[in-house]
Amino acid sequence: MKTIKASLLFFVFLAALLIGCKENKKENQPENDMVKTESAKSHIEKSAFGETPDGQKVDKYTLTNTKGMEIDVITYGGIITRWTAPDKNGNYEDVVLGFNDLDSYFGGVPYFGALIGRYGNRIAKGQFSIDGETYTLAKNDGQNHLHGGQKGFDKVVWAAEAESTDDGASLVLTYTSADGEEGYPGKLDVKVTYTLTGDNELDIQYEAVTDKPTVVNLTQHSYFNLSGDFSKDILDNEVMLNASAYLPVDAGLIPTGEIRSVEGTPFDFTEPKAVGEEINADNEQIKRGGGYDHCWVLNGTDKNFGLAASAYHPESGRLLEVYTDEPAIQFYTGNFLDGSLSSKTGGVYGKRSGLCLETQHYPDSPNQEAFPTTRLNPGETYSSHTSFKFSTK
Ligand code: BGC
Repeated sequence: MKTIKASLLFFVFLAALLIGCKENKKENQPENDMVKTESAKSHIEKSAFGETPDGQKVDKYTLTNTKGMEIDVITYGGIITRWTAPDKNGNYEDVVLGFNDLDSYFGGVPYFGALIGRYGNRIAKGQFSIDGETYTLAKNDGQNHLHGGQKGFDKVVWAAEAESTDDGASLVLTYTSADGEEGYPGKLDVKVTYTLTGDNELDIQYEAVTDKPTVVNLTQHSYFNLSGDFSKDILDNEVMLNASAYLPVDAGLIPTGEIRSVEGTPFDFTEPKAVGEEINADNEQIKRGGGYDHCWVLNGTDKNFGLAASAYHPESGRLLEVYTDEPAIQFYTGNFLDGSLSSKTGGVYGKRSGLCLETQHYPDSPNQEAFPTTRLNPGETYSSHTSFKFSTK
């Protein structure tokens, strides 16, 4: 009996010692120590990326697959800061606009690589009503509300968990947006899962739940430059949009409510067409956007995951395909970039040096009843699925 008791005590002691050691190890770990998660087919490395002005730590996760694609995601804004893709000779180069350091992301950056929410795109006059109650949001784009407000999901620090399996390297980002944050009703729990597959595809799954009726429209705001050379513009990229119609806008880029056929207009991208071919056309809508900055109504992708868009850079052979289950896509050609931001490679980001393909619901849906609803009720789960797939041809 005594020996059993003694050995039991010994084991308890041993266990306590082990737990103690483990905790110590955690505490003593240098803050910027690389942490690796890996499987045979993918891996993720975590490292420190800096601090926000209010002292929150920001990490960088590098997702890698066996083909050699690398994607850097930081916990600030869920921003993709670097994304390498192969050209036709197998050379991997960075194809997204962004910065090498965290500080460059503070202030005046047009949403490079960021997660956008609670409402991606514009809400007219920063106002909408739900069940008779009016909610007022920031007017951060002229008279209108844009991309979630002054401090949207692109400017908050997300919690992150990394997992590597044979299906790919996944980074799960979560954020709780408080009831009333940026004027939106309801506490919203958001989860975004980035998965880099072995097939050079970044799969993005968005989910959210609320405790009060609210509106949600999440998207990803990467600016692609498929040439891998940020000093070049994207006008020679051949873009296809699987859309027979688009949403004309007013002077403040709010949809007028009309759903207009693209046929015979510069907005027809049903067959691949160089971005520059009609970008300066004498067309009222082109003038309003300063180029393309419109939402296209996708053919049949609503709730039915399918090809929404592609962009092809003939010289490098890089082809990007975008798949989604969203009903629309904002195609923005970087018209407001003006060379005032320094690029990762020492130059500047000039006008139209990147293009965005933002899968989403229609802009201003909370105020336009004829548009598919963006309302989320308690008990429902918002879900949106998009993937960006790279190949060459
Ligand atoms: C909008 C543009 C805006 C850009 C960056 C895009 O989603 O459509 O009008 O300038 O984001 O803010």
